[in-house]
Amino acid sequence: MSSATPVARAPTGARRDPAILSLIGNTPLVEITRLDTGPCRLFVKLESQNPGGSIKDRIALSMIAAAEQDGRLKPGGTVVEATAGNTGLGLALVARAKDYRVLLVIPDKMSAEKVLHLKALGAEIRMTRSDVTKGHPEYYQDMAERLAGEIPGAFYVNQFGNPANPLTHERTTGPEIWEQMQHDVDAVVCGVGSGGTLTGLSRFFAQVSPRSEMVLADPEGSVLAGYVETGKIGSAGSWVVEGIGEDFIPPIADLSRVRKAYSISDAESLATSRELLKAELILGGSSAGTLVAAALRYCRERTQPGRVVTFIPDTGSKYLSKMYNDYWMVDQGFIDLKRYGDLRDLVSRRYEDRAVVAVSAEDTLLTAFQRMRIADVSQVPVLADDQVIGILDESDVLVHVHRQPESFSDRVATAMTQRLETLDPSAGFADLLDVLNHDHVAIIVKDGRFFGLITRYDLLTYLRRSIT
Ligand SMILES: Cc1ncc(COP(=O)(O)O)c(C=O)c1O
Repeated sequence: MSSATPVARAPTGARRDPAILSLIGNTPLVEITRLDTGPCRLFVKLESQNPGGSIKDRIALSMIAAAEQDGRLKPGGTVVEATAGNTGLGLALVARAKDYRVLLVIPDKMSAEKVLHLKALGAEIRMTRSDVTKGHPEYYQDMAERLAGEIPGAFYVNQFGNPANPLTHERTTGPEIWEQMQHDVDAVVCGVGSGGTLTGLSRFFAQVSPRSEMVLADPEGSVLAGYVETGKIGSAGSWVVEGIGEDFIPPIADLSRVRKAYSISDAESLATSRELLKAELILGGSSAGTLVAAALRYCRERTQPGRVVTFIPDTGSKYLSKMYNDYWMVDQGFIDLKRYGDLRDLVSRRYEDRAVVAVSAEDTLLTAFQRMRIADVSQVPVLADDQVIGILDESDVLVHVHRQPESFSDRVATAMTQRLETLDPSAGFADLLDVLNHDHVAIIVKDGRFFGLITRYDLLTYLRRSIT
């Protein structure tokens, strides 16, 4: 692909590291002012403001610098890491700024936004299976280590075992908090991914303020909170919050100074992130919800005033299509729609909520097609005065325009299907299956008024939710 606009660059030979790297760290700290913090004052450190959008920019910078210093990474070398997220973005930023090749092995469950972001930064991606565990050749960490062994000049970063990871938090994140809090900190609430943040901060605060308590915020399903409380590693479950929680104790994680641990459900984490945006106007990622929820519980449980710090580890802009999208929240079961006890419960986008993407018979096919694309749906109802008068799907449009693309300007009325599969909400499952099995969508109409559509996707989502 050729790029359209040439961009002016400094002459080679005078190359310096891009100045953006100097913006890593020294992140702002702000006070929570509208949520109920009990007798305490709660402050959040906005790691989301790092140029790569997360706290991981810090370790990317320090792990690459350490490898340069001890000769594991030389000019022309390749930075290799297994990563499911922010570490990859940080490494891609720093490695490309320093002209290294960067190769990231990522599990195939990563969001499209993150993969596109990594590619746009110039990282090479090897996608691998997310359904295999340690010891399997396609497990992402084993694969990254193997590739690093095969590529000449490759440096395997290994954030889970790299001492430069906790060290950077001991030397930068900790001192920044200490100064920003005017040397008065009662507790630091922290999550654990690799354990770098918690370990580095534990060491720093043990030196400067041994009375400051370290508090763990852990997603429900992770084994870490249980380990802190009982010393035993229980069996792991699954969770949707990204970046924190583990099914093992990472080699660099030192949990010995953690005094209290909170296990936070996905529902509470996501609701707290959304509340944080509404109340404080802070757009954090999913783990920000876990950390803030744990910090709020800690604050409210205290009987004495205290000064508490936690993090906004990454920006919520990576999660707009997930937890900040009401439909995603409904589909995942985190927002409950009104229940009727009939087929209406399967309709996730309801006309009464203004949630149905629809067209009128007078709209052009181009308008209809663009609405389908933006909403990521394959069909739209054609409405007139709250009544469905037709359905238009992708194949209706294709049949109409394939010989003559100019026909995109024709009216929807010329291409829509008027044979409608209408069901009353009281109809049975068998009636619904009959409609869907004939490649149609079911139109739910109650007392003559349109309620919404049921597609195969809606039925599958409903069935999946019923097993969780
Ligand atoms: C999204 C995200 N990434 C990274 C971290 C820190 O992880 P680590 O233990 O690897 O320092 C956190 C901690 O809260 C987090 O929420």
